[in-house]
Amino acid sequence: MPHLKPVTPAQAIWNQRDQVLKSSDRLRDLCEAVDWQNDLSLSQWTQWFTLALEFQPDLIIELGRGRGNSTCLFTEAANQLGNCRVVSFCLSTDWDELTKPRVAQIVPDSWFDCLEARIGDLLATDVPALLGTSQRILLLWDAHGYEIADFVLGAVLPLLKDRVHLVVMHDISDTRYAGTERAYRENRLWRGNNDGSIRLVLGHLNSAVEQAVAIVDFTSRNHLTLHSSDHSLHTELTPTQTQELQQQLGEFFSICGHWFYFSLNEKPDEEPIYFPAFSYEAILQDQANRQTFKTELQSCQQQLEQTQSQFQQLKTELEQSQNQLKQAEAGLSHAQAIIAAMESSKFWQLRKQWFQLKKAIGLSSSE
Ligand SMILES: C[S@@+](CC[C@H](N)C(=O)[O-])C[C@H]1O[C@@H](n2cnc3c(N)ncnc32)[C@H](O)[C@@H]1O
Repeated sequence: MPHLKPVTPAQAIWNQRDQVLKSSDRLRDLCEAVDWQNDLSLSQWTQWFTLALEFQPDLIIELGRGRGNSTCLFTEAANQLGNCRVVSFCLSTDWDELTKPRVAQIVPDSWFDCLEARIGDLLATDVPALLGTSQRILLLWDAHGYEIADFVLGAVLPLLKDRVHLVVMHDISDTRYAGTERAYRENRLWRGNNDGSIRLVLGHLNSAVEQAVAIVDFTSRNHLTLHSSDHSLHTELTPTQTQELQQQLGEFFSICGHWFYFSLNEKPDEEPIYFPAFSYEAILQDQANRQTFKTELQSCQQQLEQTQSQFQQLKTELEQSQNQLKQAEAGLSHAQAIIAAMESSKFWQLRKQWFQLKKAIGLSSSE
């Protein structure tokens, strides 16, 4: 494999700016049909669309389709390129149920021919079959978590190594350009995807997704450059070019991308590349173990709740018994007080003396 410099975002948008203008109505219509710009803005659509046109892949792999922003822009690029297929992966059925029917109103039926939208766990993919004889592969890595990072770095990249490829990673910002927050703002440390708004800062990467950790580890071990879209757009375009793009493309252009990219093609052949292990069986086993643990935990929680409710019942019964005992004690004290009062009364003294007298004169001894 020859030692190749990857296509850059700045080069792509500059070289493909006329194509963006020609495609602007289509891109806007598709973007409106997806109606999910919080996953990908129109300017990010343009950055990936021009990257695909410039790179000219014969296969685009989309890991993570969601509502289908990237699905649409890559399928549009594949239609324009010809001889390019898009294989898209997602657990969600949103594409089939929500987005595809709306997109079908904008594009001809043949537009969907180059797209294969799979539903299911991408970790189970037969990667050699997926790649087939493709020689130029654009991979979008937009599904998150360490298992997917294991899959991309351990199962896909070893097979991409000897083909021309480019890997694009979403949801990572470049602190040198993106004006990202540095303060913790009362937040604890980032612990993984589920930490919501808490973000991780690694060098100039700012992200909330685990693949940021995995890719810094991977590129550091392999002395590989992890490129930033923002760095490319800020440093490769001259001020005049930037101004021209802003004027020509308007909302389709931004100098910020919030995505990173890399390619093993940059490594000279003689240098080794180290890949992590990937085993789908091991992941299934981990998932099964986690499920067993979860079920056991739920059962322990149920038992704990039962024991707590039994304890509460016993406590109530004990309190009732203590109250009854107190009442009985109070009744006893009251009776004893009455007896003592009776015994000290004049009538009682006379009664007592009368019985003593009766006893003395031999009438009767019982009271
Ligand atoms: C951030 S969204 C993708 C957004 C999309 N690229 C876009 O441009 O609109 C990530 C998607 O990855 C999918 N995903 C996560 N884990 C997955 C897995 N193991 N297999 C398949 N899809 C997965 C989720 O269902 C989710 O829809």
